[in-house]
Amino acid sequence: MHLSYSFIFLLLIIFMLEATITQAQGKSTLVSAIFAFGDSTADPGNNNYIKTPSRSNFSPYGRDFPNHVATGRFTNGMLIYDFIAKHVGVKESVPPYLDQSLSTEELKTGVSFASGGSGFDPLTPKISNVISISKQLENFEKYKEKMEAAIGKEQTQNLIKEALFIVSAGINDFVANYNTLPIRRINYTTSAYTDFLLQHVDRFLQELMDQGARKIAVANLLPMGCLPFVITLNSDIINAITKRDCIDSQSSIAQDYNFKLQNMLNDMQIRFAKLGSRIAYMDIYTPLVDMILGRKYDFEIVNRGCCGTGSVEFAFLCNPISFVCPNASKYVFWDSIHPTEKAYYLVSQALLPTIDSITKY
Ligand SMILES: *[C@@H]1O[C@H](CO)[C@@H](O)[C@H](O)[C@H]1NC(C)=O
Ligand SMILES: *[C@@H]1O[C@H](CO)[C@@H](O)[C@H](O)[C@H]1NC(C)=O
Repeated sequence: MHLSYSFIFLLLIIFMLEATITQAQGKSTLVSAIFAFGDSTADPGNNNYIKTPSRSNFSPYGRDFPNHVATGRFTNGMLIYDFIAKHVGVKESVPPYLDQSLSTEELKTGVSFASGGSGFDPLTPKISNVISISKQLENFEKYKEKMEAAIGKEQTQNLIKEALFIVSAGINDFVANYNTLPIRRINYTTSAYTDFLLQHVDRFLQELMDQGARKIAVANLLPMGCLPFVITLNSDIINAITKRDCIDSQSSIAQDYNFKLQNMLNDMQIRFAKLGSRIAYMDIYTPLVDMILGRKYDFEIVNRGCCGTGSVEFAFLCNPISFVCPNASKYVFWDSIHPTEKAYYLVSQALLPTIDSITKY
């Protein structure tokens, strides 16, 4: 008798706990879907379906997924926006739009249109033949048509209105384009080029809103001067092989861009508030620089990637015959450009208040 009373009591507690958890989940599910646009920081594998050297659907990419599956994400596991999708309660990870096998159910909770190597400058995606931002928007329009056919026009409109939009690009415009090719440098100073990029960001965001987007989060630039590849390229030989300190002049470019981006987004938020728009500035720079300078978090290696020598390899240079460090969680960077899953996870956690500010109100 005693036993069965405590058993019932236990069941009751479990039942109450479950009810509380379900309720809490119910409250946070104000987001219908997640859509991502941009570059490798948000591309879960769209580049697998196009002809480009900018790919990562081979080992050791994806090494820390179960079965080590190389999805096309440019890291050893998940991206920031996979973790955010999970946080807002829509799905465990965001699939690439170009995967033709996605079910209507999967499409309904969101996809990524991003393409590794892309940027806001229309010239940037041409360098590695990847999907431009304007083409990503066209793909979004096609997505909408597909959904209208599947679930109806009104439902699709609501879906878009309640969805979280993530925009994450800009680093390739500097690293692959402005710093590498002479074309833009002839016409633009760094500061003028920053303004040029931000005009494209502004136009893109307006087009997204024209398409019905209302909750939009835009990532800033990560500390560019601390990317292992940028350190290697911009150092004298001594720094390149010994200390590998960040290149402050390069991080300053990112800081200037970020400052202007934040002001621009604040202005847009004011201008578009009457539409019901919520536009947020996502600061990925600060958590990353905190990791790299050891101000917060506890990484052992901050100036080299886990793959290869860690100083130059990414995409096809980080491949099945590359040396790979045994434990990527000790590294901020997975290859010479892209953070590890561990770093991405910590950045995603730092972003949650920002995400909540535009999704819960
Ligand atoms: C950019 O530079 C080229 C060559 O110097 C020049 O012909 C062109 O007019 C410039 N474009 C702009 C937009 O200033
Ligand atoms: C990898 O490194 C992390 C961070 O130092 C540590 O917490 C974890 O236990 C390590 N994993 C293994 C398998 O050694």
